[in-house]
Amino acid sequence: MTCLARYTCLMSPSFPHKGSCFLADEAATLACGERLARQIASPAVIYLRGQLGAGKTTLSRGFLRGRGHLGSVKSPTYTLVEPYEEVSDGPVFHLDLYRLGGEQELAYLGLDDYLATRGVLLIEWPERAERALPAPTIELTLLPQAAGRTLQLMSVEAAALTALSHDAA
Ligand SMILES: Nc1ncnc2c1ncn2[C@@H]1O[C@H](COP(=O)(O)OP(=O)(O)OP(=O)(O)O)[C@@H](O)[C@H]1O
Ligand SMILES: [Mg+2]
Repeated sequence: MTCLARYTCLMSPSFPHKGSCFLADEAATLACGERLARQIASPAVIYLRGQLGAGKTTLSRGFLRGRGHLGSVKSPTYTLVEPYEEVSDGPVFHLDLYRLGGEQELAYLGLDDYLATRGVLLIEWPERAERALPAPTIELTLLPQAAGRTLQLMSVEAAALTALSHDAA
């Protein structure tokens, strides 16, 4: 069985846990990503949805910070994937599929190798290759609202909901 199929079997595509919160500014998005990184365990497949500029990379940056990454987090807009091998409970692979040429390109990117590591996949623009991706364990949608963003979260694990609470550690 390929890694991709293994993930799809192990992880239910339905989401029993749902919630939302308001993120007033960039700092709030970063802090939410950090909380999420502390609440969820690897392996995990996180889909990040939302229009251009919604805050998907910002949330991923917070997530990586929460896993102890101290350096910069550049958007994988052109590289399509940025690996973070040295983070805690890692590795984390940050993908941005906006410019993916087609689903067959995922094999060239080494998707099966990433899955085999049982780390975390943070995937921006999953809709570009949804049929070829493993089912998500968490789905995040960022929606512009006034000057901030509403974050909608759906998860197979209840623990992820804690990330929505601004008071959570
Ligand atoms: N909660 C928020 N309120 C207001 N601005 C925010 C918030 N979160 C992030 N931003 C800002 O939104 C802008 C775009 O963020 P980001 O690059 O993370 O978007 P993106 O969804 O990854 O875009 P793309 O689809 O192009 O990859 C940044 O300037 C960031 O500071
Ligand atoms: Mg981005």
